[in-house]
Amino acid sequence: MLNSNSMEEKRQSVTFHSHLDLAHQYWQKVAQKDSWAIDATCGNGYDTLFLAKICAGVIAIDIQEKAIENTRSLIQDLSHVHFFCQSHVDFPKSANEKPISLIVYNLGYLPGGDKELTTLSSSTLESLSRAMEIVLPGGLISLTCYPGHPEGAHEEKALLGVASGLDPKRWTICHHQWKNRQKAPSLLLLQKNFR
Ligand SMILES: C[S@@+](CC[C@H](N)C(=O)[O-])C[C@H]1O[C@@H](n2cnc3c(N)ncnc32)[C@H](O)[C@@H]1O
Repeated sequence: MLNSNSMEEKRQSVTFHSHLDLAHQYWQKVAQKDSWAIDATCGNGYDTLFLAKICAGVIAIDIQEKAIENTRSLIQDLSHVHFFCQSHVDFPKSANEKPISLIVYNLGYLPGGDKELTTLSSSTLESLSRAMEIVLPGGLISLTCYPGHPEGAHEEKALLGVASGLDPKRWTICHHQWKNRQKAPSLLLLQKNFR
């Protein structure tokens, strides 16, 4: 039998979802078995693994060879995951040849890795403008921001500045943020409207 504390915890956990669970729910809504995803920061591969299960294929990008290796070792069926060790400032050519319904950024640095090798506001914004061109109508760009470290806070602010100025006829924007936890990750979603 649950005591009153654990009943409280259970009720709260059902009411609110972590930014990751929330992100997964949104990704599942737009992913289709005949469309592709881009994981623009594949890191340890957990997002790539999830995306590979719900999409026809994934373009997995990271600037670090170690991240590419980690992701490769996590994925069993590699036939539909294409790896690129490069910056997401520019997407690989193949991104123009696939129907891309989902572009995912998990910003910041590789957990357990070099914290200096973090995503930067300038390159993330540049990449976002490319992502906005190639994502299909109805498709989603998902950015998990980490305002708990200085560059992450700067990056989140810069992204929100751009996102909040986008034409509502073309883009639907949503930002999930824990209002009383200033350093917690937040989730920014940009959906390209059907015209
Ligand atoms: C928070 S981790 C990603 C975690 C990953 N999604 C997972 O599920 O394990 C952020 C990653 O972004 C990568 N990164 C940083 N700057 C980048 C850039 N300009 N282009 C591509 N990847 C970058 C880092 O190397 C790091 O692996």
